[in-house]
Amino acid sequence: MSPETGPEISAEQREREESLVRAVLDSFDGTESPRLKQLVQGVVTHLHAFLRDVRLTEEEWRQGIDFLTAVGHITDERRQEFILLSDTLGASMQTIAINNEAYADATEATVFGPFFVEDAPRIDLGGDIAGPANGQPCWVEGTVRDTDGKPVAGARIEVWEADEDGFYDVQYDDDRVAGRAHLFSDDAGAFHFWAITPTPYPIPHDGPVGRMLEATGRSPMRASHLHFMVSAPESRTLVTHIFVRGDELLERDSVFGVKDSLVKDFVEQPAGTPTPDGRDLGGSTWSRVAFDIVLAPDGV
Ligand SMILES: [Fe+2]
Repeated sequence: MSPETGPEISAEQREREESLVRAVLDSFDGTESPRLKQLVQGVVTHLHAFLRDVRLTEEEWRQGIDFLTAVGHITDERRQEFILLSDTLGASMQTIAINNEAYADATEATVFGPFFVEDAPRIDLGGDIAGPANGQPCWVEGTVRDTDGKPVAGARIEVWEADEDGFYDVQYDDDRVAGRAHLFSDDAGAFHFWAITPTPYPIPHDGPVGRMLEATGRSPMRASHLHFMVSAPESRTLVTHIFVRGDELLERDSVFGVKDSLVKDFVEQPAGTPTPDGRDLGGSTWSRVAFDIVLAPDGV
C-alpha cells in the first residue's frame, strides 16, 4: 500500500467505500451558499481520502476523537489550543501564504499566534512596551511605507512579545499587561520604541498539542521573535514578526513561521553605550534593530 498506488482492496470493497463518499457529498448538494458547499464538500473529499489512504483503524479513530476532545477541553479565553494545533500542523502558515500573495516589495506576513490581546495600551513614539516584563532593553526603529515608497503616516502598529522567561503576560495569573502596546507612525511614516530583546520560548506544551509534539519527536520551541500587526486605511493589514539573526532555532521553528526576509540584526550594544533618546539604562547592555515595513494595498 502506498499513497501512489492506493490500498490493495477488492473491487467490491472499493465500491462500498466510494459509494459512501458519494452519498456524503450528495447530502450537501442542496447547500444554498456556493462557498459553503465548496468548503463542506472539500472537507468530505479530503477527509475520506485520508481515512481510506491510511486505512484508519477504529481504535485510531477513537484516539483521534479523544485528542480533539482534549484540545477543546483545555481551550478557554486565555488558552487557545486549536490555534496551537493549526500552527504546529503548518495550517496557519499555509492559510497566511494563500491570503498574502507576494505583492511588489510588501513585507511578508507570518503567523498571528495565540497571544494577541485587543486594547493593548497606547504608547507614544519612543515609549516602552515592556512594562513589568523582564529582559534586555531593545530599541526598535523603522518606517512604514506603501509599495510606491510613499510614507504611511498614522499607521497603527501593534507589538507584542514574551518576556525573557519565555512567557507572555496572559500566561501569568495576575492580569499583568506587559510586553505589548500599540503606537502610530509619524507624518514621515517613521516609528521607534523600546521593547526587550526577543528570546526563544516554547509554545504551551502541557496539553494535547504538546503530547503530539513529544510523540513525534518534535520540539515546542519557537525562534526568538517580536510580533507586529500594522494597519492603515487602504492598506492590507500586515501580521508578522521579526526574528533574531543568529538564533539557532530559525531552522526549526515549531510553527513554521520563519521567513528569511523577516530575520533582522539585533545589534548588541555594550554597557554604557549612549541610547538614541538619551534614556539612562543604568549601565546595562541593550540592543537595537531596524525594521522597515512595506504595506501592500488593500484588496490585493
Ligand atoms: Fe510569539
